[in-house]
Formats: sequence, structure tokens, C-alpha cells
Amino acid sequence: MKKEKLEEFNNWWFIKSVPQDLLRPYKRSLFNQLIRSLNNRQVISITGLRRTGKTTLMFQLIQKLLDDGVKNSSVLYFSFDEYAESLDEVINAYREAQKKDFREEGKYYIFLDEIQKLSKWENQIKKYYDLYPKVKFVISGSESLFIAEKTKETLAGRIYELVLKPMSFSEFIGLKGLGSNIPTIKIKSLFLEYLETGGFPEIIGKEKAERKEYVKSIVLDKIIFKDIVSLFGIRDTEALMQLIELISTNPGMYLDYSSLAQQLDKDRRSIKNYTILLKESFLLKIMCNYRKNSMSTLRKLKRVYPVDSSIITAFKSLIDDQFLGRIVECVIVNHTNSNHFWKNSHEVDMVVDGVPVEIKYQNKIVDKDLTGLREFMRKFSVKKGLLITKDEERQEKLEEGEISLLPAWKFCLESKL
Ligand SMILES: Nc1ncnc2c1ncn2[C@@H]1O[C@H](COP(=O)(O)OP(=O)(O)OP(=O)(O)O)[C@@H](O)[C@H]1O
Ligand SMILES: [Mg+2]
Repeated sequence: MKKEKLEEFNNWWFIKSVPQDLLRPYKRSLFNQLIRSLNNRQVISITGLRRTGKTTLMFQLIQKLLDDGVKNSSVLYFSFDEYAESLDEVINAYREAQKKDFREEGKYYIFLDEIQKLSKWENQIKKYYDLYPKVKFVISGSESLFIAEKTKETLAGRIYELVLKPMSFSEFIGLKGLGSNIPTIKIKSLFLEYLETGGFPEIIGKEKAERKEYVKSIVLDKIIFKDIVSLFGIRDTEALMQLIELISTNPGMYLDYSSLAQQLDKDRRSIKNYTILLKESFLLKIMCNYRKNSMSTLRKLKRVYPVDSSIITAFKSLIDDQFLGRIVECVIVNHTNSNHFWKNSHEVDMVVDGVPVEIKYQNKIVDKDLTGLREFMRKFSVKKGLLITKDEERQEKLEEGEISLLPAWKFCLESKL
């Protein structure tokens, strides 16, 4: 590789800072977590859905390193969107361009973007990691980099994995440049806007038609027609697109591969495989039925949501109150790290750290809306439950314990993600 290729990527070698057009003033909440882990030895991996801001985050980190006095020639960025045969090739070109041999004083920071495009990347990283303790790697990829079990094994203990999700409600407010003292009435209208717009940084403030077009042609087309085709060799792009549409117009649906296969006129195994690929591309969140210990056939029960409401609104134009409730459910589920709902004779939408959470985005909460929560609390002897509402906020003391009612917008603002 010619050193000029690397020089194009690494402007800071010459002008001592990252070019302004690659940076954005707003820092995602993951930024601070990343800063803290820059001093650890482990490789940091930032994965996540397309267009959520991974590359921007890398450039913000580079600028932070330069601001903190790291030598500009000690920072390398390369994206495997550009062809390179191996990591050796990139690193040799860097060593030549900057006359580095990694034995000098100080640390080196190597940022590798789109690393999924480099075959056997994990072995190549491992080699450098083990040989050069002074080199800190930050790698990024859009599909799950760890889909193959052996990748995890190769890098066991050497990697710190972070996922950049679409923006949360509080990031949405932050990106709009709004402060923290926003009147409740304004927050509520922002929440409605967020439900429609979702969390891709680029579509905030854009018109509806433009947002739909963006999600379909920039995000989904890129994942389905480019990433999945090139990485997994799946050619049935039409079925993949139909599958994501079906799931997006039924957020929270129970995953029934046989029925999906029938609807899409495909075999069950392909549909299961496609669903997994869409999940590994960070488009879907799959929730499993909560079980404390016993094995059960119900354990196989799964529910599926798109990871962002914009994927729903890209396919669905008419949104009535009832459907808005399902969008809220999707947003709430994605604002937590929970991977569980619970279903027995009744059900609850999520189990978060052992606490049952039910979502009822409606004007009035009545006793029967608490049934699932109460049953869960009784069965698992849990004294707390949470009911996420449209507006109501209060505590209900019951024989099972206490149920807190909390408006959806407030829950999203308070969530730590
Ligand atoms: N913190 C931010 N503030 C404002 N805009 C942002 C921010 N982060 C990202 N964006 C914008 O969102 C778009 C996508 O960002 P970026 O290219 O960093 O995402 P990505 O995850 O690397 O995407 P891809 O997976 O396609 O490589 C860009 O137009 C970028 O300017
Ligand atoms: Mg990128």
C-alpha cells in the first residue's frame, strides 16, 4: 500500500487536528465510556447498526486524544472500505510513512473501521495485540463481528465490546441542542416527535417523506443488498426485505418461523436464518420468555422488535392511537438491556433486573392492566413492579407489593442507556 493512501485518511499528521467536516459537536453518551476505556490494554470494538455514528465517534475520540497531547503521528485510522489485503499491509505502510517501529516511548492508537471486510481479522489483531503491548486498537464494524464463535475464542479476554445503538430519547434532545430545563409540555411533544423520527442522527429535523426514504434506501438497502449479500452470500434480498417489513409493521410479534415462512412462501430454515442475520446486523431485537430456572417448552417463545421506531414508521404511514402504543413499546424495549418478556397465563412486556415491567400507553389505567405484573410478583416473590403509562404517575400499594406508574417519556429519560 502506498503511504499516500494512509495520508489521505490521517489528515492530523499534517494539520494536527481532525478535519472539522468529520467531527460533530454533539457527543453520544457512549463517548465518555470509550474515553475511560482508552487507557486499558484491551481492544475496543464498537459495533452497531449502519448510520448510527460509529465512524464519527472514532474521529471524536481521535480529536480527544490529540487534545490531550497524544502525538499526532502516533494515531492511525484506516477503513477497510478501502481495499487492503491484510493488517500487515496497513501497518507496514504506517510504519514506513511515520518511521515507527512501536518501540519508541509512548503509546500508539490504531483505529480500524469496517474491519468485518478483512477476512480472519481476529487472528491478525491477535498477533499485534500479543506482540505490541503499547498499541491500543479501536475497531469498528457494522455487522456483529462476533457472529462466529471462534472469533470470540481467538480474542478471549482481549476485547471490550461496545454497541452503538440508535440515539436514545435523551440523546435526541441533546443533539437538538436543548438544555436540561425543558418544560414538561415541551418534553411530551418532543417525545411524540421522537417516536416518529427515531434515533438516526442524520434524519432529525427532516420531513417525513425524506426520513422514510432515508431508512429504506440508505439503511435497509445497504444492509440487505450490500452487507448481507457480500458477507453471508445470501441472494434472496426480496425475502429479507419482506421479512423486515413484516416484523416492522407488527412490532413485538411472537416469532413463529413456520407462519412467517408460509406468508413469505419460503422454507422455515431460511426464514430462521434470515431473522438471525437481520439481528446480527443490529436491525432486530429478540426477546425471550423469562424463566427463573426450570426448562420449559415455553422458553422457546420469542418476541421480535425493530431496534428503532424509524424502521417502523418507514413502512407504516397511518398510525392510530393503538398502534402508537406499539411503537412506544418498541422504543421502551430498546431503551433497556432487557432480553426478556414473560408469558404464562398472563404476560408482562419486559423483565428488567428481575423486576416486571408492563407498558400501557393509554389514557386511563384500570385494575386489569395490573394483572400480569401482579401475577409475576406473586409467582417470583418480587415486591416491585413497573407500569409504563402515557401520563399517569403514582404508586399502587397492593398485597403483592408496590407497583410504580411512570410515564413513558420519563422512563426513557431516566434510563441509563
Ligand atoms: N454525534 C453526532 N452528531 C450529529 N450528527 C452525527 C453524529 N454522529 C453521527 N452523525 C451523522 O450521522 C451520519 C452517520 O454517521 P457515521 O458515518 O459516523 O455512522 P456509521 O455508524 O459509521 O455509519 P456506517 O455504518 O454506514 O459506516 C453522518 O452523516 C454523521 O454526520
Ligand atoms: Mg462508518
